[in-house]
Amino acid sequence: MPDPVRRIIEERGEEAGFTALKRTATILSESYREGCSAALARLPAAERTAAYLVTRMPATYAAAFRVLGEVRERLGDTSIASILDIGAGTGAASLAARHWFPGAALTMLERDSAFAEAARAFLPDARILSADVTKLDAIPSHDLIIAAYSLGELTKSVAHRLWQSARVLVVIEPGTPAGFTFIHKIRDGLLAEGAHMLAPCPAETLCPLADPDWCHFAARVERSSLHRRVKDAQLNYEDEKYSYIALAREPVTLPGARVIRHPQHHPGLIVIETCTAAGLRTQRITKRTKEDFRAARHCSWGDTWK
Ligand SMILES: C[S@@+](CC[C@H](N)C(=O)[O-])C[C@H]1O[C@@H](n2cnc3c(N)ncnc32)[C@H](O)[C@@H]1O
Repeated sequence: MPDPVRRIIEERGEEAGFTALKRTATILSESYREGCSAALARLPAAERTAAYLVTRMPATYAAAFRVLGEVRERLGDTSIASILDIGAGTGAASLAARHWFPGAALTMLERDSAFAEAARAFLPDARILSADVTKLDAIPSHDLIIAAYSLGELTKSVAHRLWQSARVLVVIEPGTPAGFTFIHKIRDGLLAEGAHMLAPCPAETLCPLADPDWCHFAARVERSSLHRRVKDAQLNYEDEKYSYIALAREPVTLPGARVIRHPQHHPGLIVIETCTAAGLRTQRITKRTKEDFRAARHCSWGDTWK
């Protein structure tokens, strides 16, 4: 995350006080684990916001950063002039979007005024709409509409409404079976409506991943020392798991394959599990194919492959 953003997060965390921050962060994490955010709304706004900033925003930013980087690469140009971030929270996805599409006009829609106020500090030039997306008569048209970790709190029908107003729609959800099921339903519904795949799938065919497996990826997140203390964590990083879908009105060139697990490294052999247009494939790359082996050494879970 940009340094000024990190600094503001640290300040907000310190201001809230360690005891309150820790208590609120625990409630926050239990609420999200149980898929129910109602308890959060009853917490004091300053503590709720500080806990989100310190313990969740770095992770949701990391996931959005990776996803939007992929979207930018697939689109191949910078024709995105307007971006709408639905359920923008404290602005994580908008900040990531600002990195990849620096010239685009940003609008954040958020119903929690304390979160929206925090987002304003990071993106002072963005437009902020304080509204409940389900109560809008019409969703204003934008080149790119993002819903990061917010639609799971809403319904699938909201995704269909968002699609009507977007050239490109990106939905990110937690990388859990429930998060993926939600993404999967949006994928099937919108492809049937004529949307084109942008990422992560290498094809518009039926998803080959079946229960108990689910499609998800991981983004590495650096933990600040305050974050570590609040979570009683030893490691200075965590891996944020996410599932996502990016769809576009116009077809784009899709990659041959997507890496769907951490590649396994053995002496002289790298095994890569991929999703391809022909289904799931295990690719065994040996030193004999020099160039492929070199590429495979730098290949990570979530990357494209041939
Ligand atoms: C888990 S947070 C995610 C925030 C941000 N997108 C991120 O990635 O960090 C979900 C956000 O969606 C907002 N939200 C949920 N339902 C909403 C609705 N109906 N209208 C507007 N915002 C909503 C919540 O207030 C909350 O800020």
